[in-house]
Amino acid sequence: MAAVDLEAELAFLGEAHRGTMPEPRREEIEAALAAGRPAPLTSAELTWAGRIAWRNHSRCIGRLHWRSLVVRDCRTLSSPDDMAESLREHLRLVQEGDSVRSILTVFAPPTTRGGPAPRIWNPQLCGYAGYRQADGSILGDPANERLTAFACRLGWRPPRQPGAFDLLPWILSGPDGSPQLVPLPSEAVRQVRLRHPRLPWFEDLGLRWYAVPIISGMRFRAAGTDFTAAPFNGWYMGTEIGARNLADPHRYHQLPRIATRLALDTTDPRSLWKDRALLELNEAVLHSYAAEGVKLVDHHTASDEFMRFLDREKELGREVSARWDWIVPPISGAATAVFHTALQEFPCTPDFHGQPSPFTTPTMPETCPR
Ligand code: ARG
Repeated sequence: MAAVDLEAELAFLGEAHRGTMPEPRREEIEAALAAGRPAPLTSAELTWAGRIAWRNHSRCIGRLHWRSLVVRDCRTLSSPDDMAESLREHLRLVQEGDSVRSILTVFAPPTTRGGPAPRIWNPQLCGYAGYRQADGSILGDPANERLTAFACRLGWRPPRQPGAFDLLPWILSGPDGSPQLVPLPSEAVRQVRLRHPRLPWFEDLGLRWYAVPIISGMRFRAAGTDFTAAPFNGWYMGTEIGARNLADPHRYHQLPRIATRLALDTTDPRSLWKDRALLELNEAVLHSYAAEGVKLVDHHTASDEFMRFLDREKELGREVSARWDWIVPPISGAATAVFHTALQEFPCTPDFHGQPSPFTTPTMPETCPR
């Protein structure tokens, strides 16, 4: 592992303490890191680390709201049972009322740098099973095929009649790395059935999605410490569901179905059947979430908010790291201001990072039945 760049890693503490960080405190943190232990941050420091990580995250268009992040300091928890209880609370907190609260829950980091680490094996706390069928096709979300198969091996029983939107259980591991199955009752997850404001048949497609995306597979890095189990959520932007999850050919692939119901010529790309189907699907997403009082932002508003975020950061003299290909919405790109804005990405800390899936690391139990 590369040596920790202390100067860069601890710079955020100055901001968190408004420039008045006591010197002994800094020395204490430096000593812990030098010994390979997690940085002994206070809960207040951890909260700022979380907020600044959100502010720094180059793929997120929703960063105007970074100061509103609530951070739950759960660094004393690392067993699957304790994590599960805390995750149920996270889920409950973000779904109550109609304003989705942004929350980060931070579990124990590895006790020594690079040592065994608590993990949530699900990429998100809510997700739908993907079952491989006899004919090779997938029922449900193809993105979760491996997780679904692995959950079954751990003893999960899918509903008697498997469907396209079966919620997956959680798979959690503590410091010993051994994965434990935690059932997720479907009542615990708020979901929205998709309806269209003008097309009555749309409801019969049986499409739905869950209310809140809670990312649980990423690593939160702050002050030289990697928190491998640190789930966080914002609220959805409509296109994530309407132009990607339900539309991508390698996900739910619904455009041909919708275009057929719209009586469009799906043999001719110039009929713009994909574009028209996308538009109706996205309108259904915006309409249905609003009708159920679940907060979700449209891509035009999100783009405007991101432009305000850029202005504010500039006023404060801070550079913004951003990836154009992630910030520009997947439909109507050039109709949003972000399309016409040059963006560049550079490393930041604190931040959220991808990490190898536990399926491919040595924590994979040898005893797993095939
Ligand atoms: N794109 C992911 C999904 O569709 C969620 C990523 C995070 N999104 C968010 N709005 N915070 O489930």
